[in-house]
Amino acid sequence: MKKLMAANWKMYKTVAEGVATATELAKLLADRLPADREVLVCPSFTMLSAVAPILTGVEGCFAGAQNFYPAGQGAFTGEIAPEQLLDLGCAYALAGHSERRHVLGEEDGLIGKKVAFGLDAGLKMILCVGETIDERRAGQVEAVLARQLEMGLAGVLEKATAANLAVAYEPVWAIGTGEVAGPAEILAAHAFVREKLVALLPSEGAAVRILYGGSVKPDNAGTIIRLDNVDGVLVGGASLKADSFSQIVLA
Ligand code: PGA
Repeated sequence: MKKLMAANWKMYKTVAEGVATATELAKLLADRLPADREVLVCPSFTMLSAVAPILTGVEGCFAGAQNFYPAGQGAFTGEIAPEQLLDLGCAYALAGHSERRHVLGEEDGLIGKKVAFGLDAGLKMILCVGETIDERRAGQVEAVLARQLEMGLAGVLEKATAANLAVAYEPVWAIGTGEVAGPAEILAAHAFVREKLVALLPSEGAAVRILYGGSVKPDNAGTIIRLDNVDGVLVGGASLKADSFSQIVLA
């Protein structure tokens, strides 16, 4: 499987800014993307229709969504359906990002529904998991990851494959803080996620990609991406500029 180098633009950028960044990124990556790398950018919904065609014009680059509501269509004011995302050229979507868990109050049950619904609709899903600093201090890292994986994947045990599912390990204390998890912490968490994936998905779990996220920058990406069981990265702050994200992609 190719390494998945993913950008999460969160709630940043106007349409014009998103188009400018995507255009610059496409120029920086076209014909330079190594054969073992795949690129994903998840912008706000508002600019998906403008940004997706720019990205998908580059071989190996994809557009994705940061969120959606798990229903086909209907009276869900303010929400976006997977079909609407596919219609805009999205190939991937995130579920369970820590900001949705901790700022928007999403719980494991809803996140599991999103993973299952998204896969059924034809999106490739990235399930985000990770502990808070209090949970880490209390020695609960493995218990938290196990619960988030079990509930997040409960509806897809028969249909998740290495091609349609990835997991992002993002320790909450390392997101947007500048505090990156050290190699030992990343190795231990990724090994645990791998073990759990193999237990939950016996035939596919060994190949499902596990991304690391949390203060990934151009100067630490090269080390992180070469660690055991690190099959990609999910980048927030450092993905907002084409130059810095392209350095991470090529690290
Ligand atoms: P960060 O965000 O790179 O700014 O820490 C990562 C994420 O939230 O996915």
